[in-house]
Amino acid sequence: TPRVFSGIQPSGDLHLGNYLGALKRFADAQEQGVQSIYCMVDLHAITVPQKPDDLKRSTRELCAGFIASGIDPEKSILINQSQVPEHAQLAWIFNCVARMGWMGRMTQWKDKAGKNAEAASLGLFAYPALMAADILIYHATHVPVGEDQKQHLELTRDIAAKFNHDYGVDFFPLTEPVIEGAATRVMSLRDGSKKMSKSDPSPASRINLTDDADTIAKKFRKAKTDPDALPSEAEGLKDRPEARNLVNIYAALSDQTIDQVLAEVGGQQFGTFKPALAELAVSKLGPITAEMQRLMADETEIDRILARGAEQAREITAPILKRTYEIVGMVG
Ligand code: TYM
Repeated sequence: TPRVFSGIQPSGDLHLGNYLGALKRFADAQEQGVQSIYCMVDLHAITVPQKPDDLKRSTRELCAGFIASGIDPEKSILINQSQVPEHAQLAWIFNCVARMGWMGRMTQWKDKAGKNAEAASLGLFAYPALMAADILIYHATHVPVGEDQKQHLELTRDIAAKFNHDYGVDFFPLTEPVIEGAATRVMSLRDGSKKMSKSDPSPASRINLTDDADTIAKKFRKAKTDPDALPSEAEGLKDRPEARNLVNIYAALSDQTIDQVLAEVGGQQFGTFKPALAELAVSKLGPITAEMQRLMADETEIDRILARGAEQAREITAPILKRTYEIVGMVG
């Protein structure tokens, strides 16, 4: 039976890349009726330093972001990772299955640890084994993510396959990454060769879900572009990364294909297109921001949703962990 799992880190503000690459697609998938679990991965967040109060606020804000984006806690299971202890327990088993060499090849590790790997936390290195545990503790079959998580999902398959092989079982499924749509890689508004990211030092590089209408309009107005008009076919976006990025964003926000968008806006100058894009973004994001603020006013309600989600999740994760321990040979 198909089962969907995905996670987002509660660190810093949610941005347009998180929304289009993940949240919006989760909401679309929920409508297809597949059992889905969505997770705030607080254990992943602390692989780099987090202030305790900020982590709490970010976790609750992320939960509000999921709900405001259309994830209905009556239809999907919403959890905070540390409240479902089987994630960390399975991660330890996977730490013993995965190889140092596999981890060392992860581009995200290389980017984040940089030249000073000696000073990085052990958790940052082991991060993808915990991610594999997040997914496999549910025997999830489908994982919707943005393009940047592709390598981690390949590693998840490697870990599942090695576990099954080492113990001579057919226990963990080989998970399918789901990387679809016009916005699986939203780029920085300041540099079309860099992805939009929470850690970019320039706030003008990203649209945050908490930005107001004026800020959104200003950031799009200042977005880097080239001097040419928009082409009328996708082919014309080749070698124009900034133009392509803005068209992709427009397509994803309006649920259209690139070709449909270009049929409409081909020939326009950026002076015309950017305000239209800003208006579209404000009309889609404004209600989400407002709903997030409304939800954030009642923390106890958010905490209640997460407590109930954890209970529902553990009905799935406890038996899978128990079976894993049996396979590995733990007495209990
Ligand atoms: P995180 O928190 O960095 O990002 C959350 C989701 O947003 C997507 N995303 C983007 N999509 C398009 N364009 C962008 N510029 C962009 N930036 C981020 C990410 O691909 C992701 O889908 N390791 C994960 C969290 C995680 C997870 C998991 C995901 C932990 N366990 C299990 C799936 C399954 C992460 O750091 O995502």
